[in-house]
Amino acid sequence: MRRFLAFLPALVLFQGSLEFLAAQSRPAVIKIDSDRVIGEVDAHLFGNFTEHLGRCIYGGIFEEGSPLADENGFRKDVLAAVQGLGVTMLRWPGGNFASGYNWMDGIGPRDQRPARRDDAWGALESNRFGTDEFLKYSERVGAEPYLCINAGLGSVDEARKWVEYCNEPGKTYLADLRRKNGHDKPWGVKYWGLGNEIDGPWQLGHKNAEDYATFALEAAKAMRRADESIQLIASGSSNFGPDSDWVGWNRTVLDRLKTEIDYISLHTYIGNRDNNFEKFLAVSRDIEDRIAVVEGQIKAARVGNPNARPIHIAFDEWNVWYRTLVSGEFNIGRTGLEEKYNFEDALAMGMFFNSFIRHADVVKMANLAQLVNVIAPIFTNKQGLYLQTIYFPLAEYAKQRGHQSLDVFVQAPEYKPDSGRALSYLDVSSTYDPKTRKVFLNVLNRSEKQDIAAQISSVSGAVGSANVWELNHPDLKATHTFGNDKVVRPVTRTFQPAAQDKGFGYTFPKHSLTILTLQLN
Ligand code: AHR
Repeated sequence: MRRFLAFLPALVLFQGSLEFLAAQSRPAVIKIDSDRVIGEVDAHLFGNFTEHLGRCIYGGIFEEGSPLADENGFRKDVLAAVQGLGVTMLRWPGGNFASGYNWMDGIGPRDQRPARRDDAWGALESNRFGTDEFLKYSERVGAEPYLCINAGLGSVDEARKWVEYCNEPGKTYLADLRRKNGHDKPWGVKYWGLGNEIDGPWQLGHKNAEDYATFALEAAKAMRRADESIQLIASGSSNFGPDSDWVGWNRTVLDRLKTEIDYISLHTYIGNRDNNFEKFLAVSRDIEDRIAVVEGQIKAARVGNPNARPIHIAFDEWNVWYRTLVSGEFNIGRTGLEEKYNFEDALAMGMFFNSFIRHADVVKMANLAQLVNVIAPIFTNKQGLYLQTIYFPLAEYAKQRGHQSLDVFVQAPEYKPDSGRALSYLDVSSTYDPKTRKVFLNVLNRSEKQDIAAQISSVSGAVGSANVWELNHPDLKATHTFGNDKVVRPVTRTFQPAAQDKGFGYTFPKHSLTILTLQLN
């Protein structure tokens, strides 16, 4: 008996491969119908995040005195890389940093600004980069700015005055202060976060859901008095651990804030902690479960009120992050949370975007955490930069902003990476641009061992031509560094699909991310 038990795992695996082969005796099926629109892929799904943390700001986007910087201190090489990423929105100043930050410290002549302790990250904050620098930087990037107020140790009055400083067109003390600091016209900051991760015990000024809602309601009221056109993002759940009552947190926040907020934020970081590739890329189940739960909670909060304000989900922090969890330095310019990404992490970018796109009707904002050096696609030193593996899928998906997300039919071999429910090896999302009649098919093959053949058909017109963008590498752990950042790069090619009454065949290689751009006749 014991002997038999020893063979059991191998037998199960063997049976798994047989099932796989049997399933692949017929190709996977993907059917496209451009009428089956889920929702618009909001441009703000391709947002990013810059926090005062490690070398994200100082030594990242901003390095005074560097030969690589412009007259503002903005690193020109970094700016070009950021523009290549297609960043549509930038969140600032944190993150955890926001919960101890007083925006008044970061305005006016740089040499007169106070240096302060940053007790979120145990660092020294010079305040040489502040509100006006950030808003000018966002303008240069061409990104919508998104400011997060201090709902931890800060006050409602500070938040109200920050809106006035940024957006007031009249002649008030704070608007005149902005003018004195070099910006005559209002900045017109539209997106304001009502705090960061206030559900987390690690947060400075952490609160329970009721206390947070009481604070956020007053902050929303006061901030909207300063500018009624602003959009507000509530701090939703960031703590999805087994002991966390994240459902309860979101319920309270939505119930109490539903008349004031436009978004509820969710934060998600993932990692391949047990070195299991296929399980790592199965996390979309959890991400989509959370989306479904919060979508239901939003509906429940709004039910019975036909004029209720629409509320959407903002994933305003998401990424792979598990290797460098502590920062802990008390010094500007030392490194912190400098994750080195590999090829499988780049594939995870496709998994995240596929989940967001499949829920494009409710997920209307997402901000990768973060932009430079700190858990980021761009990595600098004083002499230059390199692009991490995750840079390339991020830049490619951003081209689909404004498209219509399509509900495609997918039937593909399935797997069970753990005791949870089975999922398809092919993780697929699709978008459609009605102006050009192009369909984008985003396909992640999460099988580590098997190529998957698929039959792709369209009921919305035959496919005339197709472009392929493919990210693949034989080594799942392949990574980049200075002078060697061409290891994991996408390849592109075109092809002419053959006869199409029943569609055309395409094989998605094992462990690859493919974006097919299909021109409909
Ligand atoms: O992005 C790094 C940190 O992760 C942020 O400061 C915080 O909001 C989250 O816990």
